[in-house]
Amino acid sequence: MVGGSVPVFDEVILSTALMNQVISFHDMSGTLVCQAGCVLEDLSRHVEERGFVMPLDLGAKGSCHIGGNVATNAGGLRFLRYGSLHGTVLGLEAVLADGTVLNCLSTLRKDNTGYDLKQLFIGSEGTLGVITAVSILCPPKPRAVSVAFLGCPGFSEVLQTFSTCKGLLGEILSAYEFMDAECMWLVTRHLRLTSPVQESPFYVLIETSGSRAGHDAEKLNDFLEQVLSSGLVTDGTVATDHMKVKALWALRERISEALSRDGYVYKYDLSLPTERLYDLVTDLRARLGPRAKHVVGYGHLGDGNLHLNVTSEAFSPSVLGALEPYVYEWTAEQQGSVSAEHGLGFKKRGVLGYSKPPEALHLMQQLKALLDPKGILNPYKTLPAQA
Ligand code: MLT
Ligand code: ZN
Repeated sequence: MVGGSVPVFDEVILSTALMNQVISFHDMSGTLVCQAGCVLEDLSRHVEERGFVMPLDLGAKGSCHIGGNVATNAGGLRFLRYGSLHGTVLGLEAVLADGTVLNCLSTLRKDNTGYDLKQLFIGSEGTLGVITAVSILCPPKPRAVSVAFLGCPGFSEVLQTFSTCKGLLGEILSAYEFMDAECMWLVTRHLRLTSPVQESPFYVLIETSGSRAGHDAEKLNDFLEQVLSSGLVTDGTVATDHMKVKALWALRERISEALSRDGYVYKYDLSLPTERLYDLVTDLRARLGPRAKHVVGYGHLGDGNLHLNVTSEAFSPSVLGALEPYVYEWTAEQQGSVSAEHGLGFKKRGVLGYSKPPEALHLMQQLKALLDPKGILNPYKTLPAQA
């Protein structure tokens, strides 16, 4: 997404792939302790067999490592329900630049003793230390999961459907994702997926996770009746069967893959006030005109997170010039974030200043100098190049 793990100049690449052991799992609390190289999907399977789920899930689950997830503070599809890794990671072990092993691999829910050092490493993209093990709190596996895939006639209806959803499904709501018609075109065209609903300007995917299937179905039906009869939703389908649920999620999860088959992709991952989230997409379509192949908006609407992606036949300096710094300025004017969940890596490190004041940037630089005086940990990433 941002080149956070991509070597660019003279780096030595370090892989934790062989550190792939689960160290312990506590059946009562749901606390998992494991090495950094465990693949997220393997961990999901491990805890699901024991009646729990990982608090994070993302499209790359089959290949991404938990150490990388924590180092990049990955957001993903369960954020709305279980929150950020800053809350669910209970402890970690990291190797510092001088070789010191920092053992903060606590499994305690509460530990108010001094600075919470693990937080420094969560989202630091490997620039302050190498995470070698983590302990993470897994919630109980929901007994009933349903997914509704709906078509909405406009973005205002997507927002109103979200409000209705929070009101009627509140405690069982576990995801509220949206995608526009161009995203649907891309996944059907490039990946040969089939849309389960009539063509619409917008689509939303709603997931509920609860403890009683009958109770959840009743609530979901009430909600659907309301949004369909009021015209907020024009067509929809619901799945509870595991394979059908997976197929509906694929439409949303695989947008990124479909985009990569469309041409050169300019990727932006923004936090914006939810009600203005789509204005930027519409604005850019007009601004770029025929220079862009597609300008699409999708993402974790429930978290106020827009994935704005633009494709063109090949890389074009003129398209880039029309996008940047415009997108960042637009975001800063809304007090948004220029990286909601993808981090800064190599590509976005220069734009940190749009989301953080100079004092915060300065303190980050001081922390980096303290923990990595020789600049050997993921160099050229996260922080702007020093003048
Ligand atoms: C997603 O939510 O699909 C990813 O975070 C964004 C992307 O892959 O572009
Ligand atoms: Zn995302």
